[in-house]
Amino acid sequence: MSATPPTAQGARRPVLPPEIRARKGQAPLVVLTAYTTPMARLVDAHCDIALVGDSVGMVLHGLPSTLGVTMEMMILHGRAVTRGLQRAMAVVDMPFGSYEQSPAQAFANAARLMVETGAAAVKLEGGARMAETIAFLTARGVPVMGHIGLTPQAVNTLGGYKVVGRDAEAQGVLQDAQAVEAAGAFAVVLEKVPAPLAGRLTQALSIPTIGIGAGVDCDGQVLVVDDMLGTFTEFRPRFVKRYAELGQTADAAIAAFAADVRARRFPAPEHGYSETASGPAA
Ligand code: KIV
Repeated sequence: MSATPPTAQGARRPVLPPEIRARKGQAPLVVLTAYTTPMARLVDAHCDIALVGDSVGMVLHGLPSTLGVTMEMMILHGRAVTRGLQRAMAVVDMPFGSYEQSPAQAFANAARLMVETGAAAVKLEGGARMAETIAFLTARGVPVMGHIGLTPQAVNTLGGYKVVGRDAEAQGVLQDAQAVEAAGAFAVVLEKVPAPLAGRLTQALSIPTIGIGAGVDCDGQVLVVDDMLGTFTEFRPRFVKRYAELGQTADAAIAAFAADVRARRFPAPEHGYSETASGPAA
């Protein structure tokens, strides 16, 4: 815990959890993931929350799932993101294995994430089964965003990235949502939950619901930024809307660079330096 939080030096005035909670029933909350400073700056200009998701493991580190993500990875990317934010609130995911053992383990790791990254809150996966831990954290100054429905860290238990909450499962999702709310979470992510159920949960809860693959009736929406920009293409759930094809743009740019280098078209004279300080390309 030796690092100085990045927020201590700047004049950052971030949105804080009570403000997010108070947005219930107001204008939709806008949330995107971010993992780097340049992306955090872009997200900050338009979003309420920059989520340092453990999706970073798949999106930036090439892992097959989020299970291999470590505290060190979350701290590294969390610090990078908070450096790029002025207004948006940073929320950092607690990685698999960092909070499930006991409330005390969760507190130690949540405190480390907040202190070392400067994030205002943590997110952790699980409903009723994590309620005791969420209550322990919130009672000790750690704002918690819940995450229910499809919880990707439980992909092996769930048997894949499936819709959660159809038919008889709906009651369990409702109980999870109520447990997370009662435990003191300031908001809850609903992932891959049928839209009508997400709408009913949004009506039933006093905290904002933030949907991903959960329909338009949630209090806010989140996407993985590389999914919507088209820079992560290995895996495309149907809930992703592509707002750009930056992967294709980057591919074309890299191909053009490679062709220029091979044809000795790059660098051109204007990209070089003269031998004398007063020359035209000084
Ligand atoms: O890790 C992540 O990016 C997330 C969002 C998909 C909600 O948890």
